[in-house]
Amino acid sequence: MKLFDITGKVAVVTGGNGGIGLAMARGIASCGANVAIAGRNAEKGMAALESLRELGVQAIFVTADVTRKTDCQRMIAEAEAHFGRVDILVNNAGTSIRKMPQDYSEDEWHQVMDTNLTSAFLCSQAAYPAMVKAGGGKMINIGSMMSLFGAPYATPYASSKGGIVQMTRCLATAWAKDNIQVNAVLPGWIDTELTQRARQQVDGLQSSVEKRTPAGRWGAPPDMSGVAAFLATAASDFVTGTAIPVDGGFSIAM
Ligand SMILES: NC(=O)c1ccc[n+]([C@@H]2O[C@H](COP(=O)([O-])OP(=O)(O)OC[C@H]3O[C@@H](n4cnc5c(N)ncnc54)[C@H](OP(=O)(O)O)[C@@H]3O)[C@@H](O)[C@H]2O)c1
Repeated sequence: MKLFDITGKVAVVTGGNGGIGLAMARGIASCGANVAIAGRNAEKGMAALESLRELGVQAIFVTADVTRKTDCQRMIAEAEAHFGRVDILVNNAGTSIRKMPQDYSEDEWHQVMDTNLTSAFLCSQAAYPAMVKAGGGKMINIGSMMSLFGAPYATPYASSKGGIVQMTRCLATAWAKDNIQVNAVLPGWIDTELTQRARQQVDGLQSSVEKRTPAGRWGAPPDMSGVAAFLATAASDFVTGTAIPVDGGFSIAM
């Protein structure tokens, strides 16, 4: 039995055109699955396709804004129409607006919640029938250290990421009977466009993360590839409803 071989299966990765999403898409592709990556920026999407195809799999880019329910549904439909099935969904698209709680507009609150949490729910709903048809599936939801901790500048972000963990548990209990495993991954501080902005906006973030992380460094996107491979393959068939930190020890250090 080849635990990590998913040749012929199909993954959809939201925000798979860069950062953590692309690294997770690469982890899954390295196990043999074909991949549909989705996002708003098609230029970034085209560049990302190259880095997936060089792993020997087929890859397509679907332009989608996951804050729109119709885009979530079309994204899954396009992947299924192109590849004939959908077995794996990575709900990775995310954003943050950093402010003190008293300063957010209602629109800003909704923008973060819709991008990070509602989208994950809508994409999961959209993918469910295809996974049932395939006889099972894998859903991987991207949380954060802010699923566990709070910060003054992260009220909607941490609320959405806490919600990801609870949503994961609910979907895992609901869909276990369909042989669908639903898990969350909680990245530590990973060097991406998102956190490049954070380092500009939050004083001392670079060094405080280095100091607190037992591994003594920020993560890089490829640090996220292995957990995606694990959660997308038969290696994790009895793992469901969990939230796995991939953080160099950030969340267990005093
Ligand atoms: N970097 C970290 O340290 C860290 C830590 C914990 C959790 N995370 C989480 O990891 C995930 C990926 O973040 P990242 O660090 O890789 O940041 P990133 O490089 O900024 O990636 C975010 C991705 O989400 C996509 N996206 C954003 N809004 C979207 C929308 N409305 N519709 C479709 N796609 C959308 C973006 O693509 P387009 O711009 O093309 O739409 C982009 O590919 C996020 O959920 C983030 O919260 C990151």
